[in-house]
Order: sequence, then structure tokens, then C-alpha cells
Amino acid sequence: MRMKPENPIGIFDSGLGGLTVARAVRQHLPNESIIYFGDTLNAPWGDKSVAAIGQYVIKICRLLIQEHCKLILIACNTASSVAFDLVRDYAGIPVLNVIDPVVDYLKQHHAQQSVGLIGTKQTIASEVYQKKLQGSGIRLCALTTPLLAPLIEEGLVGHHIATEAINYYLSMPVLRDIQALVLGCTHYPLLKSQIRKFYRGDFSIIDSTDVLPKNLKNSLIAHDLLNRSQSAVTKFYVSDYTPMFAKLTRLFFSESVHLKRIDL
Ligand code: DGL
Repeated sequence: MRMKPENPIGIFDSGLGGLTVARAVRQHLPNESIIYFGDTLNAPWGDKSVAAIGQYVIKICRLLIQEHCKLILIACNTASSVAFDLVRDYAGIPVLNVIDPVVDYLKQHHAQQSVGLIGTKQTIASEVYQKKLQGSGIRLCALTTPLLAPLIEEGLVGHHIATEAINYYLSMPVLRDIQALVLGCTHYPLLKSQIRKFYRGDFSIIDSTDVLPKNLKNSLIAHDLLNRSQSAVTKFYVSDYTPMFAKLTRLFFSESVHLKRIDL
């Protein structure tokens, strides 16, 4: 089917963390319709097997394609690390991930530096950032921070438990002497101000939600899919619904939205 610029962008994540990405897309590309899918039934994905993550993403892509999405944005570092090729081969429409824009940014702004990376177990184990940064002269210091996404999903942003977890992880010897830190999980932008407090002063914290909208716009233009008419509609689907999810949505998307449960 020929995709039209008015068709929506499909955005998905393991849960609600990817709403930080959806929020950035809406802010920078307000004409674009969005269909967001959060796999709240299966979250977190960060410590699931590659085979399980592959099964989840294919079901989600099938739904997004049925909904006539013109482009899929994988708003999850874990799935971007281990299932990007799978999604791209399956989808038959343009697919973007949250890692490539960050890698491009690092090459341009942090060449020859020591850069920290925090993320889920799967993201770090995949070594995807190291592979993509090969030859850039960047020394990547990677650390798994598996407590952070669940703390956020529990609504503990700003709580001293989150501050303690942040201080515990960021004090690890592997992150000593870094000149910048990559937030390698789409949940982590919600902890940015607490992370900034840890580093105090002038320190680069690289967050895919800051660098990705430009890449997305370029890709839409390249495929002749940028929506120039003002017809944006945003829909939010989840695979499991609880009142807590509705509450968190407000935190992650900065406004309350209607969550519809869909059985995949
Ligand atoms: N937000 C996801 C990411 O960027 C993962 C959180 C999880 O489900 O473990 O990796």
C-alpha cells in the first residue's frame, strides 16, 4: 500500500518509558500523528532473551502496520540493540531506532573522549554502541543499571530511593573519568535532573530524545512522508492496563492520555 504523509508514525517500547520519545516527537513535529504501543504486559524487556524480545516486537509491528503506520520508531534501546534488523526486515516501511542518532552525535561532538553508557542488561550485553562507534576513537565505559527502569515504572522519580540508586551506579569505578554520559534507555530522561545533580556543573548528558527528532524529520523528508497538513491524532495502546499506568502516562508524556488495552 502507498503510504501517505498523513499516515501515523508508529512508536513502541516495552512499557511507558518510550513515551519520553513520543513526547519529543510531538514537540518537534506537531503535525505528525502518532500511534504509541507500550508492551506493559511483558515489560521490562531489559533482561528478557533475544528470542522473547523478537516475538514481542513482531506482534507489535504487525499491529502498527495494520494501523497504516508510515514509519516505525523503536523507542527502546533494548529492542533497538537486539531486534532492529528483525523489525526492518519484517516491516517493509522505514524503521528508525534510538541508537543511531546518538552514535552520530557522539562521533560529531565527543570524538577521542571517554564516554559513559548506562542501560539495561540486554543493551549493554549486545555491545551495540561499541560496534557502531568502532574507529571513532571514543572509549566507551558501559554499565548495566537494571534498577533504574523499574524504579521509574514504580513512580519513584524524584524519590530519595532513586537518588540513592543513581549515586550507587554513577559512583562505580567503570564510570570514573568520563567526559559525557549516554542515557542508554528511554526511561532515563525522567531521571536527568537527578543525574545532573550527581555530576554538578557543566557535564554532557546525552539523551536520544534530544537528538532523535532531527533524524526522524530528515528520514520523513527523504521518504517524502513529512506531514505538512495540521491533522495530527495521537493514540496510545498498551498490552495490559492498570490505573498505575494511566498515572505514569501523565508523568512520562506530560499530560494525561487515554490508554486503550489491545490484545496482541
Ligand atoms: N525503555 C527500554 C529501553 O530503552 C527498556 C526498559 C525495559 O523494559 O527494561 O531499553
